[in-house]
Amino acid sequence: MQPFDLIVHNASEVLTCNGELRGKAEDALAPIPQGAVGISSGRIAWLGTNLPKGAVSGHTQEVDAKGGFVGPGFVDCHTHVVFAGDRSDEFEARCQGKTYLEIAQAGGGIAKTVRATRDATAEELIALALPRLDRLLKHGVTTAEVKSGYGLTVDSELKLLEVVRALGDRQPVSLVGTVLGLHALPPDFSGPREAYVREVIDELLPKVATASLARFCDVFVEQSAFTHDEARACLTAGKTLGVLPRLHVDQLTANGGAQLAAELGAVTADHLEQISPEGIAALKAAGTVAVLAPTSTLFARARPFAPGRALVDAGVPVALCTNVNPGSSNSENVFLAMGLACVECGLSPAEAYLGFTQVGGLALRDESLGRLVEGGPADLVVFAADSYRTLPYHFGMNDVSHVVKSGRLL
Ligand code: NIG
Repeated sequence: MQPFDLIVHNASEVLTCNGELRGKAEDALAPIPQGAVGISSGRIAWLGTNLPKGAVSGHTQEVDAKGGFVGPGFVDCHTHVVFAGDRSDEFEARCQGKTYLEIAQAGGGIAKTVRATRDATAEELIALALPRLDRLLKHGVTTAEVKSGYGLTVDSELKLLEVVRALGDRQPVSLVGTVLGLHALPPDFSGPREAYVREVIDELLPKVATASLARFCDVFVEQSAFTHDEARACLTAGKTLGVLPRLHVDQLTANGGAQLAAELGAVTADHLEQISPEGIAALKAAGTVAVLAPTSTLFARARPFAPGRALVDAGVPVALCTNVNPGSSNSENVFLAMGLACVECGLSPAEAYLGFTQVGGLALRDESLGRLVEGGPADLVVFAADSYRTLPYHFGMNDVSHVVKSGRLL
């Protein structure tokens, strides 16, 4: 056999996360006790217990896991890392009792970030996003979805998606673009709101599709943002162009958004703090992935937390995300999200871990992500902890010791 380019050995276990999701979460982790991994040409060449003969040559790089466990690179399936400006004043106002919606209705919130982001050049936005992506990488994230939504004109939304593409070439985390033209009504838009929605549908989406700038089209359905009918029109148009639907729904107010996501065949329904039992049943029937963002529930002081336990018990696949953004979740901390998903949403540590691995991959419609399989991408994380259970338990702390992306030790 050809010796591997890189091996990872001395692990307590290798969690492949390639088991059946329908059964027990612990089984879906599909661990290989005392496992090892062989990597060649950026792919996983071998997974098992005893490295095969001839696996190692003088050129093979070795990672000694020193008894820590190994798992797939994390998939952060909902982020807004491309933005300029600062909203620490709003954080302070929320701490003193103002709500996220009150701040938005007074002209702050997303509109404030839009003004700062429009004023920034593409190079400035890249420079601001790079450290955020680096922090995600240090938390074990090897693939992240990134939304536009802070431009809110055709040209500035395109600029943000081009920045996402450029960022994909300038740092190791693989990026998946999402067009979020309907994130908020543009602060300076003087025409009727229908005119802005039409601009997104008739001008922005075709340009995004032609340039393949986004895999997903997203809409924020909320009192301060867009209605069911506006979201339906936008996501249906996106679908016709091959841009897949997903939605921010039932976040701050209960709005039947989960049912809308199910009706539209959305790949994901995100947030869901206010989802109803009917909404849960609708997601299950439609096969839509629920994406929970518990750091934003905490940071935006928007109780209750999403009913993760009820979603999992109903058989809805539950993914987790950091939702990095300047307003509702100014944090790249994957482990805080996992810990909150356990403590506040009722997930088990295994379910929370799957939320950033196998189910994160499903949320991006890419089953090669968030799993370790022979022939699959060699994106993996080595932890300075012998069990995944430590991650939410070591609350908000980072136990990543090594990250391997596309077969390269970073
Ligand atoms: O996912 N809910 C809408 N979008 C973001 C918040 C954006 C912002 O406040 O800037 C979210 O929480």
